[in-house]
Amino acid sequence: MQLNNRYGNLASHVYNLDKHIGKSFGDVEFYRERLRDSTGPILEPAVGNGRVLIPLLDAGLQVVGFDASQEMLDHCTRECAARSLSPHVTRQTFEDFAYDECFEAVIIPAGSFQLITDHSVAMAALKRIFDHLLPNGRVILDVDPIGSVLSGASGIRRWTTQDGDLLTLTAQLAETDFVAQTTVSHLRYDRWRAGQLAASELEFFSLRWWGVEELGLALRATGFVDVTVSGNYQHGKAPENDDRSITFEARRPA
Ligand SMILES: C[S@@+](CC[C@H](N)C(=O)[O-])C[C@H]1O[C@@H](n2cnc3c(N)ncnc32)[C@H](O)[C@@H]1O
Repeated sequence: MQLNNRYGNLASHVYNLDKHIGKSFGDVEFYRERLRDSTGPILEPAVGNGRVLIPLLDAGLQVVGFDASQEMLDHCTRECAARSLSPHVTRQTFEDFAYDECFEAVIIPAGSFQLITDHSVAMAALKRIFDHLLPNGRVILDVDPIGSVLSGASGIRRWTTQDGDLLTLTAQLAETDFVAQTTVSHLRYDRWRAGQLAASELEFFSLRWWGVEELGLALRATGFVDVTVSGNYQHGKAPENDDRSITFEARRPA
């Protein structure tokens, strides 16, 4: 069984409790504002539980999405149905997604682009995104700064489910590859019922870090133009050392 970035049953449940619909890191408002004048279709790869998709649909935008995890898509479909929304969301991956139509924008919030840990696979994904954009279409994606990837998220966190179970997540940074620019964290998810362990899940969570200039060069090498880089979801503000997020926006030429 594949353990890498799987977002399985317990992982997706934790995601939906921790990063529930309505939660924003400043990104929801940012993407909504950057897409404000869009009239055409928008694609969100790695759409997850719909945390960003749903507010964009609520704002009247036409957004579709895909995700590699069926469990995440199930949360997304349920959350959408609870709001009488039924967007087109499918099970696909960065590596092989395909659509008959082209998009006015492709957005990748929450650092999901960093889940592609192989550089050549990431470059191929950028090309696939480019090929799925209309002329003048934009890609907007954000990455975590290198420092936060390198420090990893170690420790224990917990959540209570609707039916009173306790979910715990124990995270530990296990490997750092300074050549491939990747980290691997071991994530152990446990479900506890009445003090007894009811289920466990192990995931190897792998991320690739990108230098600011490196990702700009990668976008230009793919054919994108007008590359802008912003810190902390303030469009046009050059990233600073202690920013928590770095966003790239670039355009496919007409
Ligand atoms: C951090 S979540 C982001 C969810 C949502 N976009 C948000 O902003 O809250 C990352 C998502 O990427 C998905 N994912 C991981 N590897 C993927 C891949 N190779 N192709 C497509 N989706 C992938 C996971 O299943 C997960 O739903």
